[in-house]
Amino acid sequence: MELIREASALRADADAWRDGGGTVGLVPTMGALHEGHASLIGRAREETGRVVVTIFVNALQFAAGEDLARYPRNESADLALCERLGVDVAWAPPESEVYPPKAELAAPDPGPVGATFEGASRPGHFAGVLKVVHRLFEVVGRSRAYFGEKDAQQLFLVRRMVDRDGAPIEVVGCPTIREPDGLAVSSRNAYLSPQEREQAGVLFLGLAEAAELARAGEADANVLAAAIAREVGRADLARLEYAAVVDDATFEPIARAGVPARAIVAARFPSARLIDNVALPSPAEPGS
Ligand code: PAJ
Repeated sequence: MELIREASALRADADAWRDGGGTVGLVPTMGALHEGHASLIGRAREETGRVVVTIFVNALQFAAGEDLARYPRNESADLALCERLGVDVAWAPPESEVYPPKAELAAPDPGPVGATFEGASRPGHFAGVLKVVHRLFEVVGRSRAYFGEKDAQQLFLVRRMVDRDGAPIEVVGCPTIREPDGLAVSSRNAYLSPQEREQAGVLFLGLAEAAELARAGEADANVLAAAIAREVGRADLARLEYAAVVDDATFEPIARAGVPARAIVAARFPSARLIDNVALPSPAEPGS
């Protein structure tokens, strides 16, 4: 595995691979790599010939007062895992390579969808995400880029940015990897106390309940959201931030599931804020 620090060296590596007719697979991360990241890397490994993992804690996407200072950083463990997973290139740049001091970088506008849900709770978050992702795409160039459905709103906004720019990037969404109790694997789970961890499964329980109701024919988003809220309410350490149903094609809240829809949830525990989502199934055919 190659460890690269400079943007120009990463670009040269990707260009050389493409010149030889190969496809580049890009997995953007903020490090503290876990099973969720590993699944993206595995998918890139299967589908592309040169897997590039980027490791960069992007200060721009942390709102004031968030966990930037304590965000877990362990470069040597991350590199060792990348090596084991068969990654070809790890790009772990200093900030000056991502945001060169004099460069005029694009600042894609997340628009109204960027101000709802995660964007409402975390002002500036999606502007920071899109800025860094745009820059990664610009440095790496034509590639297939792997993102987790775990961060569904981020995935939506990245896809829309690529569509709008006409960038030569194929965005691939990958399923959420979960702990045995359903908790979505996340770098931030490490913040949870044992008691919080025991209760953290309620987000998925709520989503699973909503999915079950949808399968049984319930389409009223209020009823589905209330089911999620009820499960989260069972955890005395959790405070619900939002539970909603959105249209998968627009990420806008909908009153009735009918189009492909997604249930989304965020809850705050004393030590960590957690998010999760699931695609809602269409009602089961009678007799199926
Ligand atoms: P990070 O939180 O490190 O996540 C990197 C990628 O891993 C994202 O696409 C995320 O959706 C995916 N991921 C995280 N947990 C997952 C899980 N349990 N199952 C499947 N995929 C999972 O998301 C970011 O970093 C940043 O915002 C980034 C896109 C790198 C821009 O800074």
